[in-house]
Parts: sequence; C-alpha cells; structure tokens
Amino acid sequence: MPSRTTAAITAVGTYLPPDRLTNADLEAMVDTNDEWIQSRTGIKERRILRDESKATAFMSTEAARACLEKAGVGASDVDCVIVATTTPDTVFPATACRVQDAIGATKAWGFDLSAACSGFLFALTTGAKLVESGMHQRVLVIGADTMSRIIDYTDRTSCILFGDGAGAVLLEPTTDGTGVLDVVHYSDGSGGEALQMPGGGSLMPPTHGSIDARAHYLQQDGRSVFKKAVTGMADAAAEIMERNELGADDVRYLVPHQANLRIIDATARRMGLSSDKVMVNIERYGNTTAGTLPLCLSDWESELRPGDNLVLAAFGGGFTWGATWLKWSYDGSTVAEKTLAELSA
Ligand code: UT7
Repeated sequence: MPSRTTAAITAVGTYLPPDRLTNADLEAMVDTNDEWIQSRTGIKERRILRDESKATAFMSTEAARACLEKAGVGASDVDCVIVATTTPDTVFPATACRVQDAIGATKAWGFDLSAACSGFLFALTTGAKLVESGMHQRVLVIGADTMSRIIDYTDRTSCILFGDGAGAVLLEPTTDGTGVLDVVHYSDGSGGEALQMPGGGSLMPPTHGSIDARAHYLQQDGRSVFKKAVTGMADAAAEIMERNELGADDVRYLVPHQANLRIIDATARRMGLSSDKVMVNIERYGNTTAGTLPLCLSDWESELRPGDNLVLAAFGGGFTWGATWLKWSYDGSTVAEKTLAELSA
C-alpha cells in the first residue's frame, strides 16, 4: 500500500522589527500600567515596524528569504506564495505578489488570505491541500501583520495588545507519515462587529468623515471576543484530539495563537497539558495576528523532533477559529538559529 502524501513543514523563517514598545512606553501614551497589562494579558513588550517606507510585504519577504535559505531551496523552485494578513500593504495588488517579486519566485503564483488571527492556520491548510493533491511541490505559507498601522494608540483597551511580525514556513510533500494530518476550521460571521476595522473597504471607503470617526483603526469589544475565544480555541483543540484519539501524553506541544495568556491557559487546561507543553511567547511579541503561530514554531524549533505531535489552535476576527494536528518532520536542533533558552533569556 503506498503511503498517503501529506504536506510537511521543511523550514521556518521569521522577521521581527528591531524596535520595541514596552509596557512602560504605553504607560506614557495612555492610562494604563504594567501590572494591569501583564496580569490581564501576559504581555511585556511588542515589536513595532517604525520605518514607514516598509510594511507587511517587507516583513514577509525577510521571513520568506530566511525560510528558503534554511531549506536550501531557491526562490525559483517555489510554486505558490500564500500570505495570511489583515494588514496588506495595499487592498490590491496582493501582498503575496509583492513578496513573489521581491524574493524572485519567478515561477510562482500567489494570493493573500484574510482570516484575521486564524489566517496562518487557514493558509497552512490551503497550502497543504495544494501539496497533498500533487499540484505543487513547494508552497510558501506566510503569516504577517503590521498591526501598529491599524491600531488606535489612544484606545487603551486595544493598543496594549498588538505587535508587528512575520513568519514563513515551506511546505513540501512527504510520505513518511508526518506533516499536516487533520484540521477543524470554523467561521461565525454573526460575531463580525466584535472585532473589526470598519473603514477602508467597499462598504466604507475613506472619507474625511470616516477618518474623523477613527473608522480606519481596529475596534474590539474585548470582553465578548474573550468569551468566544476561550471556548472556540479550547473546543477546537479538544475536537482534533478526540477524533484522532490523541491523549495529553501524545501531544508534544500546543501551539496557540498568542492573544491573551488566560485564553492560552484555558485551552491547555482543556487539553490536559502541563505548561511545559505549551508554546508561549506573548510576553515578547504581543499579538502579531497572523504572525503568532509561525513565530512560535520558530522560537521552539530547536526543541522539535521528527514525529512530535503538535496541535495548532487559533481564534480571531470574523469570527474565525480552528485547530490543526501537525506531526513535525525534521530535527530542529540542527537548524535552529537560537535555542529556546537563548530566546527566553
Ligand atoms: O486575537 C484576536 C482575538 N482577540 C482576543 O482574543 C482578545 C480577547 N480579549 C481580551 O484579551 C481581554 O478582553 C482584554 C485584555 C482586551 C481586556 O481584559 P478584560 O479582563 O476582559 O478587561 P475588561 O475589558 O473587562 O476591562 C476591565 C477593566 C475596565 O474598567 P472598569 O470598567 O472595570 O472600571 C476597563 O476600562 O479594565 C479597564 N481597562 C484597562 N485598565 C488599564 C481596559 N483596558 C485597560 C488598560 N489599562 N489598558
């Protein structure tokens, strides 16, 4: 019996802007304090892309280049580039086309995928299906957001949460039983208004009025998003474990979207996982929207071994949410740029 072809992650690359926005910096901007931010969210600092001539395509390009270099794959061998983002450089052309051009992926097609904080999860599934079907051999899946460009830094309820960053993974076919093995994904548009940017699309094009109404910034009803996120992420993670008969002992790591440490903890509890099995870097980067999952995979790369069972889980605007069972494909200790201990120091 020939083994099933699945899509393996064969390399990870990231880009984080060098400038940091700390809780102390925010204390000088809005009525907040370090103790409130840390106890309610787990965040200590975030990265901000200060150079206004650069945006999501730049960060995605840097992450993609790092990923391809680690894989030893030339850009001209990439078949498709998918960029999950809520902060594309422009409504069109797609950020994926800018990245395709910048890295020199001359034979690739590409497109952007919009699913807010679940963007990377949904893009990973999309890329995996292109590989599993036999259509493509090498697909770049990127999660990237320049959230600082759509954050209202007068709104203390949201500006403390978000940061900028990008991560890229390369997907290639395998028959060794590793790779993307199962997914559960959901949307519920009835929750759309709880987390949105009302202006800038065809419903509300930019006008003096929309700018005066601050409609081109992210708006969030934090409490109602929190309630939905806690159950959505935990339910999806439990569902993927149950239907694949994965017990807590079988799972090496939960790879959760980094929106709030309390949501992550609730998901881990539901899965029966101890904290050493949960990837958490929210204290360093905040919520980078589509960037959080690949940034986790990169930070923990040195710890990952072939056959490790990972459960990725996310919840975001839309609402969108889901979980993915990924069996890791390579020995991360041989390629990781930094160990986890170095990153956490
Ligand atoms: O990634 C996409 C999905 N997004 C999420 O998952 C985010 C989900 N939501 C959350 O993470 C949380 O709801 C927040 C972190 C946004 C807020 O935490 P909370 O525990 O839900 O706080 P709250 O909104 O219930 O506010 C509690 C109090 C309020 O004061 P009163 O009304 O009790 O006097 C707020 O005005 O905290 C106040 N508050 C602040 N205080 C200091 C709100 N923001 C701040 C702040 N600093 N930055």
